[in-house]
Amino acid sequence: MRTITLINGDGIGPEICDAVMKIIKASGLEIDWDIQTAGAEVVEVEGTPLPERVIASIRKNKVALKAPVTTPIGKGFRSVNVQLRKDLDLYVNLRPCKNLPNVKTRFENVDLVVVRENTEDLYAGIEHMKDGDTAESIKIITRGASERICKFAFDYALKNNRHEVCVVTKANIMKLSDGLFLESYRKVAENYPQIKKREILVDNLCMQLVQDPTRFDVLVMPNLYGDIVSDLTAGLIGGLGVAQGANIGDDCAVFEPVHGSAPDIKGQNKANPTALLLSAVEMLRYIGENSCAEKIERALFKTLSQNIKTADLGGNATTTEFTQKVIENL
Ligand code: NAI
Repeated sequence: MRTITLINGDGIGPEICDAVMKIIKASGLEIDWDIQTAGAEVVEVEGTPLPERVIASIRKNKVALKAPVTTPIGKGFRSVNVQLRKDLDLYVNLRPCKNLPNVKTRFENVDLVVVRENTEDLYAGIEHMKDGDTAESIKIITRGASERICKFAFDYALKNNRHEVCVVTKANIMKLSDGLFLESYRKVAENYPQIKKREILVDNLCMQLVQDPTRFDVLVMPNLYGDIVSDLTAGLIGGLGVAQGANIGDDCAVFEPVHGSAPDIKGQNKANPTALLLSAVEMLRYIGENSCAEKIERALFKTLSQNIKTADLGGNATTTEFTQKVIENL
């Protein structure tokens, strides 16, 4: 039996994890879940939100499924997500964005992928007060990290029959940092004559995405733009409740939805487990359980087609009812 680390998070995390574990079990696949807690409640007991045991478990099992973890705003501990990505060198944040059956949105035929650099940029967390009234955050962009993320984007495009890789920067203003990211893209792109190239500034990208997202295919960008743009693209396909994601490195991968811990609906049996479920489907493909992944995806799509939806998609199914219906459709 395959052992997989499960970080069940906080807020709606435990509810959606429970739903996804039940669905996977009902599909016939036995997984030995190594459940690891992290976040605010763990700080009180273990003095850190991300104890070494969590990292050690992922290093050992190579794959993890992760629910969202709350990050205090403005003060308190550093983001568990950022720390996890750094410690395990999960340098790719992959966020595919495709319309789902019977989830009506402004646009049809959206099928794009955001490839976000996951280890540096303003997320390096290097900040200080220069004086009492001036805060300074440092944006780090290195050639090595930029080239490897661009290479991942082109390789992904080749493997998945994609036609174009578009680089997203603000290199007209941040001529050195974003300029280096753009230069790295151009260098890597030379090795992929089969794939179309395109360069766009992030502000123009946002405008075009809300006008017609079908103009885009694979998008590669530094960390902060990727964070913001992937929430925008989540909105194009039905919102955070359906947007999946993965953090991938050379040794390990952590699959997690784009959304946060949704404290506003915690414990109300309202959370949509779809984003975590689709992340888990990708995880199953990653470990070679393709037929099980297909089966779960089909059951999910059938459930949506039967108009069984949670409140975020305009339906009235509870998390439990939605989960039960997916299990019946398996
Ligand atoms: P959020 O994504 O938790 O919530 C934004 C809105 O979307 C809320 O109205 C929420 O109810 C709704 N929503 C999100 N997921 C949903 C789901 N599965 N089903 C139905 N509705 C859903 O973003 P917010 O409020 O900015 O962040 C809350 C906390 O989560 C913060 O502490 C933040 O730092 C953390 N966070 C953690 C992430 C992670 O662990 N990967 C990612 C993003 C945020």
